[in-house]
Amino acid sequence: MSLKDDLKDIRDQGLDDINKSTDLKSLNNIRVHLLGKKGPITSALRGIKELPVEKRPEVGSYANEIRDDLTKAIVEQRDNLANAQLNKRLAAEKIDVSLPGRSVPQGQPHVIQQIIDEVVDLFLGMGYQVLTGPEVETDHYNFEMMNLPKDHPARDMQDTFYITNEILMRTQTSPMQARTLEKHDFSKGPLKMISPGIVYRRDTDDPTHSHQFHQVEGLVIDKHITMADLKGTLLTMAHQIFGDKFNVRLRPSYFPFTEPSVEVDITCFNCMGKGCDVCKHTGWIEVLGAGMVHPNVLNMAGVDSKQYGGFAFGLGPDRFAMLKYGVDDIRDFYLDDVRFLNQFSKRGI
Ligand code: DAH
Repeated sequence: MSLKDDLKDIRDQGLDDINKSTDLKSLNNIRVHLLGKKGPITSALRGIKELPVEKRPEVGSYANEIRDDLTKAIVEQRDNLANAQLNKRLAAEKIDVSLPGRSVPQGQPHVIQQIIDEVVDLFLGMGYQVLTGPEVETDHYNFEMMNLPKDHPARDMQDTFYITNEILMRTQTSPMQARTLEKHDFSKGPLKMISPGIVYRRDTDDPTHSHQFHQVEGLVIDKHITMADLKGTLLTMAHQIFGDKFNVRLRPSYFPFTEPSVEVDITCFNCMGKGCDVCKHTGWIEVLGAGMVHPNVLNMAGVDSKQYGGFAFGLGPDRFAMLKYGVDDIRDFYLDDVRFLNQFSKRGI
């Protein structure tokens, strides 16, 4: 056999191997074997020097031709295999975009939080600060600074959980009045704040009482604040939270930290003032307590009650929610049953 025949065999065998290769790794092995330094072409070329001089160029160029053929075939096969591999992966990773999406359940603020947010938004818009205070409170702030000394009979209505004789779970957000009054610098302007938060009472649980509920305290102190300012503020809130058709009514009442004190009623949502079972035929529903801040509260906190005065109020978002949605058991709000909670729209009341 001539060297040319050897080369031809190498090519035929090589092309066969290349075309039969099924993956890039074995194709690369074939390439290294065929075209490498120890491969058949290189060793065949070594035999050229045995040939007569005039034959050498022809065989040499034939060997180059074969190397080019094989290289070309390898490149082609490499493309084929790479494409096949890609197509296989694409098929495996195919996404059916026509499938309906998996919906992610969307949460929403608790109905009571919705009401608190709405109250906070309103008062922020009227330039009030929003402050929060400790739920574990001292007797000093919770009672004494709110004009409820140790032996005061009104303490009975607000029995709570004691941690020590002097430290307790706060029964009201009113202590935030004293805490804020102590800190406020009146040379910088009037004090206007609301303070939302959780309060505690040692109430036996029944449909209208829970041992834990919410309040939003409000306090405005400046020179020349009158009860008309209080009523205007409460009317604005009633309009915002319940709607423009609602009116407010102030009734004389008693709180140790306000003088005079009032209970605030709004138009009955059920009969819009005509009188029905819900409002016990009065046309009104009691929604919060308020009054003009007692001079003792101001003086104890270091504010001169001869110069400064104002109003305070305390509202219960739980009660607002019960009224607005006709929920007759406050405990429903605390059971965290999503079937119950999902009934309340995101936009609040
Ligand atoms: N702290 C009172 C309570 O829990 C509610 C209250 C009434 C707050 C009158 C006030 C107010 O600021 O002026 O029963």
